[in-house]
Amino acid sequence: MKGVILAGGLGTRLKPITNVTNKHLLPVYDRPMIYYPLETLAGAGLKDILIVSGPEHAGHFLHLLGSGKEFGLRLSYELQDEPGGIAQALGLAENFADNEPVAAILGDNIFEDDLSQAIRAFAADPQGAHVFLKEVSDPKRFGVAVVEGESIVEIIEKPAKPPTNLAVTGLYLYDVEVFKIIRALKPSARGELEITDVNNAYVTSGTMRYTKLKGEWTDAGTFDSLLKANLLAARRPQARRRA
Ligand code: TTP
Repeated sequence: MKGVILAGGLGTRLKPITNVTNKHLLPVYDRPMIYYPLETLAGAGLKDILIVSGPEHAGHFLHLLGSGKEFGLRLSYELQDEPGGIAQALGLAENFADNEPVAAILGDNIFEDDLSQAIRAFAADPQGAHVFLKEVSDPKRFGVAVVEGESIVEIIEKPAKPPTNLAVTGLYLYDVEVFKIIRALKPSARGELEITDVNNAYVTSGTMRYTKLKGEWTDAGTFDSLLKANLLAARRPQARRRA
């Protein structure tokens, strides 16, 4: 299985700090933000990882992470010319994936749970898709899942009246069908190719599975969630504490 980190987008909600740099390069406690999703994928044994970013700051990612040798990884880079949505960014990984399943993660997502077992289990038997749900207090900001037993019945993107508080978090495991699904997508009302539409294609075909997260999770795309990400990162066992 291959890994993809989606690190495009404009980061407008973090202006002015994203005026001259990319959101995923900002510090989160003791490391650049992108180290966290990189660690989530690498911790599950994935070695081949693609970083998709916008053209403005692509060189900075290369400068920061290089070939990946330092981390025992093989890193590749792809440009998303315009921020046309998370699903568009993932679509750019088709050649890289080369008919293997993919673990795609948003570059601003920080997970407290150890997800390596779930990723390894999917890699061993890659069928359909798998997402990770988290109970949140502000579901309106996210794709919200309606579940019945083991199955997801529907995912609603940023609902005005959320039917549940189960947010779809930013780690998605897909079989090889995902690129066919992305090629058939139409842009949403906001002009983006939506990852929720990709996920709902799997929901419709009855092949979407889920795990509920036990530990904390946050994105880091708003000032409040960036602060939460810093606090979460500081209490991780891997945090480098200095006297
Ligand atoms: P968002 O937070 O939805 O978008 P953004 O990062 O552009 O922020 P803002 O809304 O404040 O302008 O995206 C979540 C993650 O998805 C982001 O961290 C990077 C990734 N992404 C892409 O890779 N390409 C895209 O076109 C978009 C919209 C997001």
